[in-house]
Amino acid sequence: MDVLQAIFTRRSIRRYADKKIDDKIVDKIIHAGMYAPSAVNKQPWHFIVFEKKETCNAIMEIHKSATMLAEAKKSILICFDENLQHDDGYGLLDCSAAAQNILLAAHALGLGGCWIGIFPRKNRMEGLRAIFRLPDNIIPLAVISLGYPAEAKETPDRIKPDRIHYESW
Ligand SMILES: Cc1cc2nc3c(=O)[nH]c(=O)nc-3n(C[C@H](O)[C@H](O)[C@H](O)COP(=O)(O)O)c2cc1C
Repeated sequence: MDVLQAIFTRRSIRRYADKKIDDKIVDKIIHAGMYAPSAVNKQPWHFIVFEKKETCNAIMEIHKSATMLAEAKKSILICFDENLQHDDGYGLLDCSAAAQNILLAAHALGLGGCWIGIFPRKNRMEGLRAIFRLPDNIIPLAVISLGYPAEAKETPDRIKPDRIHYESW
């Protein structure tokens, strides 16, 4: 699958087949995250791979739109280290780029994934800090749920020519 095909056909997949994901595939997906651009190439990210039901249940308790974790075979919490980021605000941007790389890599490798928003909701951030015992300098951005797709989605039309400007507004 080439990059453009991956970009246009990737969708948030929230239903997963009962099929294990090989650890090597998860490694490859995370490596794709680590090749995202980052401000001043600081690469301030950390990734926590998890699959335990008790962890998924604890997240679903505090995040009502995370029900896909009930079927996810593996998930990745993407965090940034405040002490490694270039300056305030950059860790968030860097890790968002990593998250998109992860979603595209997962799709290209035949998996479905969904971005589960943690940042900037304080209750979710504090909830995940407790669940994963994150140090104070580690900020949770998003969980990416993963699994082999048990649903298929069409590519919607999102082209809005009026949002494209040339030379000035
Ligand atoms: C910052 C962010 C937070 C999101 N949080 C959630 C979430 O908590 N739960 C969920 O089901 N989807 C979440 N999504 C996925 C969006 O709902 C999804 O990307 C959007 O509806 C567009 O659909 P698509 O990904 O299939 O193109 C999030 C996406 C982003 C970028």
